[in-house]
Amino acid sequence: MKVKKVIVTGGTGFIGSHTVVELLQRGYDVIIADDLSNSKASVVDRIAEITGKKPFLEVVDLSDRTACLHFFKIHSDAEAVIHFAAAKAVGESVLNPLHYYRNNLDSLLYVLEGMGQSACRKLVYSSSCTVYGQPEHLPVTEDTPRQPATCPYANTKRISEDILADMVHGDEARRAKGEGMEGDNPWKILALRYFNPIGAHASALIGELPNGVPNNLMPYITQTAAGLRPCLQVFGDDYDTPDGTPIRDYIHVCDLAEAHVAAMEYLDKPGFEGIDFFNLGTGTGYSVLEVIQSFERATGQKLNYKIVGRREGDIEQIWANTDKANRLLGWKAHRGLDEMTLSAWKWQENLQKKA
Ligand code: UD1
Repeated sequence: MKVKKVIVTGGTGFIGSHTVVELLQRGYDVIIADDLSNSKASVVDRIAEITGKKPFLEVVDLSDRTACLHFFKIHSDAEAVIHFAAAKAVGESVLNPLHYYRNNLDSLLYVLEGMGQSACRKLVYSSSCTVYGQPEHLPVTEDTPRQPATCPYANTKRISEDILADMVHGDEARRAKGEGMEGDNPWKILALRYFNPIGAHASALIGELPNGVPNNLMPYITQTAAGLRPCLQVFGDDYDTPDGTPIRDYIHVCDLAEAHVAAMEYLDKPGFEGIDFFNLGTGTGYSVLEVIQSFERATGQKLNYKIVGRREGDIEQIWANTDKANRLLGWKAHRGLDEMTLSAWKWQENLQKKA
């Protein structure tokens, strides 16, 4: 059966909310499951303002097994799940590893168990390019070997990928032995390895809402330009890159949202079953200084920044080979860096107006 109703966990978060907008605009019905631990319930009102449709929000902690299974029982008519809900702060994961393992892994296990109770076997999972560590050869393809994780957060992504692959293989093995249950569809799973999502919806009604001091570059830039932070620290200019600052593959969050719809629709392609992995980036790397220059160029704002020492755990450079996603998902990121930095700034300005 083709997907009509989709469960989006973490649907009020940064990438989740942009994906919900895209799904609603394409005519899907959306149920959001979110514990609001790092987002606000009012995001659904902003989504409604953009799309004219208000998604249903169930406030639920998916790492609570009883609550999670109950949620899936109520929404057993959903045909697919996009599972974003997870904690993602690298530093916090080092300080509080058990919280990360519990929150990110328990919730995945219970979501799978919840789906297992119903007929829903289609899952799009949020993984990260963090699984590649510092690769030897660039750009990275999906076959680039994964590296041991450098922090508990990264490890939860690596382990989650393994859990999904093991589950699919177990399912295939049972079927091969004739032990599959009648009417029990095979699992169809895509794990999407995001590079660095930044930017915000063109309406400036939704965007990234970091709790406290931002860890990531883009919100730190916009908050500094807005006067909320005195100065951006650029972590190191002595890397082996053209300008000495680290290189990442920044991707507009709206391009990423479109990729999720393409991925979910790919699950319905005849012949696809099991699990597959996709890089989601633009295929182009930019240095920290290039992002700052783009921000200044696109917004006309002068940014106060200074070069400081390297941040522990940072890799030097990474960007994606996106051929597989381009070819199989029929998707390509098309928004440029200036559009990313300008939209992030417009979102920040809109937040200030409301504050
Ligand atoms: C980090 C995580 C990644 C996670 C992603 C999403 C690591 C090694 N990786 O990516 O696993 O999926 O966040 O949350 O931590 N920078 C500054 N000053 C700042 C902030 C960042 O110079 O105040 C630089 C960093 O050194 C880096 C670049 O900006 O070179 C991007 O940093 P960030 O936005 O934190 O993303 P990643 O570290 O790439």
